[in-house]
Amino acid sequence: MANSTIRTELCDMLGINYPIIQAGMGPFSTNRLAGVSANAGVLGIVSTSGFGYLRGSAAQMETGAAQVVKSLTDDLGGTWQEQLKRALRRVEESCREAKGIFGINVMVSSEVAEFAREVIRTTIELREEDPEIKDRLRVIITSAGDPLPLTDTIKSSGLKWFHVVPSVRHALRAERAGVDAIISSGQEGGGHVAWEPVHTIVLLPAIVRAVNIPVIGAGGFGTGASLIAALALGAAGVQMGTRFLATKESEFHPVHKDYILKGNERDTIVARGVVGPLRWIKNEAAVDFTRLTVEKAPGVFLGEPEDLADVAREVRAKEDEGWDAQFRGDGPKALMPGGEVGGLVDDIPSVKELVERIVKEAEDVLVNLPQKYLKD
Ligand SMILES: Cc1cc2nc3c(=O)[nH]c(=O)nc-3n(C[C@H](O)[C@H](O)[C@H](O)COP(=O)(O)O)c2cc1C
Repeated sequence: MANSTIRTELCDMLGINYPIIQAGMGPFSTNRLAGVSANAGVLGIVSTSGFGYLRGSAAQMETGAAQVVKSLTDDLGGTWQEQLKRALRRVEESCREAKGIFGINVMVSSEVAEFAREVIRTTIELREEDPEIKDRLRVIITSAGDPLPLTDTIKSSGLKWFHVVPSVRHALRAERAGVDAIISSGQEGGGHVAWEPVHTIVLLPAIVRAVNIPVIGAGGFGTGASLIAALALGAAGVQMGTRFLATKESEFHPVHKDYILKGNERDTIVARGVVGPLRWIKNEAAVDFTRLTVEKAPGVFLGEPEDLADVAREVRAKEDEGWDAQFRGDGPKALMPGGEVGGLVDDIPSVKELVERIVKEAEDVLVNLPQKYLKD
């Protein structure tokens, strides 16, 4: 037992040391975060949603979005596809020595479907051009949309394919699309949440029961004990977003990290955001934005999905202002995604320290539980 650690089928499938995924978190690229996470033995994920900014013009650099662009590339030359390839090459170089494994997250909702296809195509092309990348970049995590139209493209690429879902119905559709694993996205999570909310404690085992492929828990995970809870519910591992955001290396603004650090478990709120309901850190801007959502986009609270095209201009303008303030680090005016698990975050460690702590806690819990509760 002395040298044993926690391993699951997720570790075997991807060649990672621990059954933990550092979540993709846009719009920052999470390049650096993905590299250090891969080096720490978990799956590092590069978020690709921010590359949409590079389709714009140099004018983007005049706004707060300049901070996002800086996190994506240090060289604005060439097309955004070339910049994406350069960024992925840099991540691979940063985790080559430790043989880290990483992947990309692509949001595939209908509003961004064409861009998503191009991100996927560019990534597959890069893997074919570069054997080192092919070896290290092993996974694509799609989210926020329908996986079925992507089956042919992704399945023929040799990438492992995970899809994020908020319900059993969506999980069955993803299984039908041919994904290799499902990520169960519980309502406590930071960022996008479901039109019809279900929390991890019910959603995760319901999906495990319904499908015949590995399931990964997401939404509310941040500790070793919760990793063991996920395994007890039948998961093959966990994906953590908010917990990895609040680390030294993550690209997010220090003000964003500070809100997570100081907040408690009640300091988040759900309002409209990007393509649907989104969990924000509860500050002045988020409370105002929630009021506006109640008035102008009540479907968020009634489980009635509405297209982005139908959302009032006022709501979209207010959200844009909030993102811009986030990039600038303007605390009270900033809209900052974050999960309930922020209430359990009480430091900003390096990723290596965080992973070591989570794994140690998980091992201790696993060893101690039988001693404590299995009685003759
Ligand atoms: C700041 C932030 C940005 C996020 N951006 C994305 C994204 O671009 N695509 C995506 O699929 N999920 C995104 N998510 C969700 C995460 O990938 C992950 O599923 C979620 O954070 C898990 O819940 P947790 O925050 O409780 O760990 C984001 C989450 C946060 C906190």
